[in-house]
Amino acid sequence: MCGIVGYVGRKNAALVVLNALKRLEYRGYDSAGISVILDGSIVTSKKAGKISVLESAMDIDSLESAGTGIGHTRWATHGEPTDVNAHPHTDCTGDLVVIHNGIIENYGDLRKVLLEKGHKFISDTDTESVVHLIEHYHRDLDLIDAVVKALNRIEGTYGLVVLSKKEPDRIIAARKGSPLVLGVGTDEMIVASDASAIVEHTRDVVYLEDGEIVDVKADKYRIYDLNKNGIQKNVESINWDIESIGRHGYDHFMLKEIFEQPETIANAFRGRILPDDGNVRLDGLGFTDEDMEKIERIIFVACGTSWHAGLVAEYLIEEYAGIPVEVEYASEFRYRKPVLKKTDLVFTISQSGETADTLAALREARAKGVRVMGITNVVGSTIARESDGGVYIHAGPEIGVASTKAFTSQITVALLISMMFARKRSMSFPEANAILKGLLALPDAVKTVLSECEKVKAIAEVYCSKHNFLYLGRGINYPVALEGALKLKEISYIHAEGYPAAEMKHGPIALIDEEMPVVFIATRDEIYSKVVSNMEEVRARRGRIIAVATEGDRDIVKYADHVIYIPDVHRALVPILASVPLQLLSYYIAVLRGCDVDQPRNLAKSVTVE
Ligand code: AGP
Repeated sequence: MCGIVGYVGRKNAALVVLNALKRLEYRGYDSAGISVILDGSIVTSKKAGKISVLESAMDIDSLESAGTGIGHTRWATHGEPTDVNAHPHTDCTGDLVVIHNGIIENYGDLRKVLLEKGHKFISDTDTESVVHLIEHYHRDLDLIDAVVKALNRIEGTYGLVVLSKKEPDRIIAARKGSPLVLGVGTDEMIVASDASAIVEHTRDVVYLEDGEIVDVKADKYRIYDLNKNGIQKNVESINWDIESIGRHGYDHFMLKEIFEQPETIANAFRGRILPDDGNVRLDGLGFTDEDMEKIERIIFVACGTSWHAGLVAEYLIEEYAGIPVEVEYASEFRYRKPVLKKTDLVFTISQSGETADTLAALREARAKGVRVMGITNVVGSTIARESDGGVYIHAGPEIGVASTKAFTSQITVALLISMMFARKRSMSFPEANAILKGLLALPDAVKTVLSECEKVKAIAEVYCSKHNFLYLGRGINYPVALEGALKLKEISYIHAEGYPAAEMKHGPIALIDEEMPVVFIATRDEIYSKVVSNMEEVRARRGRIIAVATEGDRDIVKYADHVIYIPDVHRALVPILASVPLQLLSYYIAVLRGCDVDQPRNLAKSVTVE
């Protein structure tokens, strides 16, 4: 969702900000804009559409001597994605500009008051009220004091950056509910909504917390709270480099990330398996034996793909550890009155660690005195920092909006968690050993699936022009079906639904005819024969069947039009392996339909507003 950048230093600020915005493109946006200070004036360019449109409209060379600038990619909330509504927004004098992520909830009231005071508004955005409010206070106050004063009147969420032409070597940034990171360089500073825009310049960063304001110059910065008390914070180091956010020859980030999975899955379990004990270690959870014994129920809270990972975790933990599990949409959990007990344990799952609903759910659970652990990918993200403990999935930066490698790593970690609890309860060493051995061999099994990508592509060619898809699976493969359907609709805009296979006859079966491709996850397990019966029901209605099946299953060809085989692995590992061909299928269909795979319309990588 919206991206923010601010730069002060000796480089060409317009170029730095433009390139940083390109790094943030993956977050999802529909307009973009940049302001720099050039020869004592603010020069602003902003355009609806992609950054390339903005770039063509700018004469970057003419801005070469500007050393301070801000830039924004906007994902529309208030007001359509037009040039006028794009950020930065300017005050009445043209002396101040502001970029903002989040939602100003009292913008209507502020706008009314400011209009009465004679301010002129030209956009439909909530953000414009912020720049006029700062202008109002800046008439009598220094810039930082004016910003502090304005922030104290704002209700809602923000990550924002302010630039004033009167102070060409300074930017002020603030955070409440929308992430902001300060990159600390040598004679240059860069603030951004995520570290991928910063890492090219410096790996030394300060993560701002809610309610913090940073006053930035090229060689120094000061952090304050909303009462303007100074705050000392540690400079942390980003543990990945610019290389890891390149496409490395792949046509799309999504394809690169799908193909990274042998490595990312290994990264999720590396150093966490204790083969001699048939156990795992997850030090970040900080559990004592007594803590683990006390837990009577586990609740997973997440959104989207991460919620699907939570469903897989439910099957794993209930089956292997015998602990009751609930899986909740964070957006629902936060607004109902969840009945929580001290013996509950809540896990949030979030790739970005910044999803607004998941963060709010975390805070709600902690406020009720329940211990909350985070399963996140982005190190230093808000969810990681606000949790009582957690597990990083170590998948590396995920740039494609459609989550792929993060999903399989989240399931890998969920399996480790289930093993940790199971071994404290009833799981025997041989059973644990079988799963862990299978896990260690899983990266190679994923490689085998990936080597079949041309077959998946051929299937995509047959079905890419269809308008609807059904994805069906049972048991632990039901969330895999949900995830397969989500991937397809996100990036190819084909309507797709995931269902438990047996539920089909309670409604969706009415949709089946020769135009309806149905993807079955039909791996060999104890309910395989039931799934085959469901396939028969589809065939009887002339639906077209694509089956993901276990290597060696020759019977399946009698029921399916197309079969994608995956290696025969322990059934606890099947969801990870079965997800991979479904990711590939969505990818190839989207490419064949000419869709923007990495930045699908209307979607944001990290949903930081409600
Ligand atoms: C995944 O493909 C989606 N883009 C989306 O559903 C995502 O999983 C969801 O927004 C949650 O994000 P998070 O994991 O960063 O919290």
